[in-house]
Amino acid sequence: VISVKTTELTIRQPDDWHVHLREGSMLKAVLPYTARQFARAIIMPNLAEPVTTVARAVDYRHRILQALSEEDGVKEFLPLMTAYLTDKTEPADLIDGYKDGIFAAAKLYPANTTTNSANGVTDIRKLEPVFHNMEETGMPLLIHGEVNDPMVDIFDREEIFIRRVLKPLIMMFPNLKVVLEHITTSEAVDFIRSMEGKVAATITPHHLIINRNALFQEGLRPHHYCLPVAKRERHRLALRNAATSGEPWFFLGTDTAPHPISAKEASCGCAGIFSALTALELYTQVFEEEEALD
Ligand code: NCD
Ligand code: ZN
Repeated sequence: VISVKTTELTIRQPDDWHVHLREGSMLKAVLPYTARQFARAIIMPNLAEPVTTVARAVDYRHRILQALSEEDGVKEFLPLMTAYLTDKTEPADLIDGYKDGIFAAAKLYPANTTTNSANGVTDIRKLEPVFHNMEETGMPLLIHGEVNDPMVDIFDREEIFIRRVLKPLIMMFPNLKVVLEHITTSEAVDFIRSMEGKVAATITPHHLIINRNALFQEGLRPHHYCLPVAKRERHRLALRNAATSGEPWFFLGTDTAPHPISAKEASCGCAGIFSALTALELYTQVFEEEEALD
C-alpha cells in the first residue's frame, strides 16, 4: 500500500453567499479579506439604514466598488446586492430591481431576530404579493430562519421557524426559490434534504467548528456569539455531514459579520462572528478532518 500525502490543493475560485461588509471605515477594513478569496459575494442589506430600495442598492454597490478600487491585489470582485424586505416593500420596485440586475435576491429578516433587523418583517402574510411576484420572476428569497417570538427558547427558534413559517410558506408558493441561510440544526439539515433541491441552505464555517459550549468555555466568550446561536454537538455533527456530503443544495455562506471590539466585549454584546480573514482555510480544515477533501 502506497500512501500519498496531499501537499497541494487547487480550489476553483469560490463565491461567498452570505457576507456583511458594513460601511465607511469598517467596509474598507474588511472588504479586502473577502475580495481576496471570493469571486462573488451576496451582500447583506442590514445596514444601520437598510438597503430597502433600488436606489440604496445602487449607492451601496458603488461604495463597495469604490472601497475596493483603492485596494491592491484584487483583480475582480462582484458584489451581488440584496433587498431588505420590510412590511412596506413595494413589489414593483423590488421586481424591477431584480429584472435590471441590481438585486440578486431579497432578504427576509423576521423583525428583531438579529443585528439591524428592527425594520424587518413583522407579519409574513403582509408580503404575500411580494412573494407571488418573486415566484413568477424567479427572484430568490434568502431567509434568516428564526422566529421572533420571545416566548420561544433561543435554541429552538430555527426549528420552530421551519415548522411554523417556512413549511407553510413553501406550501403556498411552491415555485419560490428559497435559501434558508446559516443553518444550525439537524432539523434544518433534514428539512433541506427532504426538499430534494426545492430549497437550499448555506452553512457557515463557525457552525461547523463550534457548538454552544464554546460560548461558555471557562467564561463568557462574546466572540463566539452569533445568530442563529451555535447549538448542541449533535447539530454541529449533522452540519458537518451535510457540508461535506457533496449534495448540491448545501452552499458556502460565511456570514462573516464584523463588529467593533467594543460592541462585542460589552455588557450587551452584538451577535456576529468575523471570519473573512480565514474563512476558506476554516472550511478546508473541516473537509480535511472529515476526510472529504476529494
Ligand atoms: C449578523 C450581523 O451582525 O449583521 N449577525 C450574526 O450574528 N450573524 C446578522 C445576521 O446574519 O444574523
Ligand atoms: Zn448574516
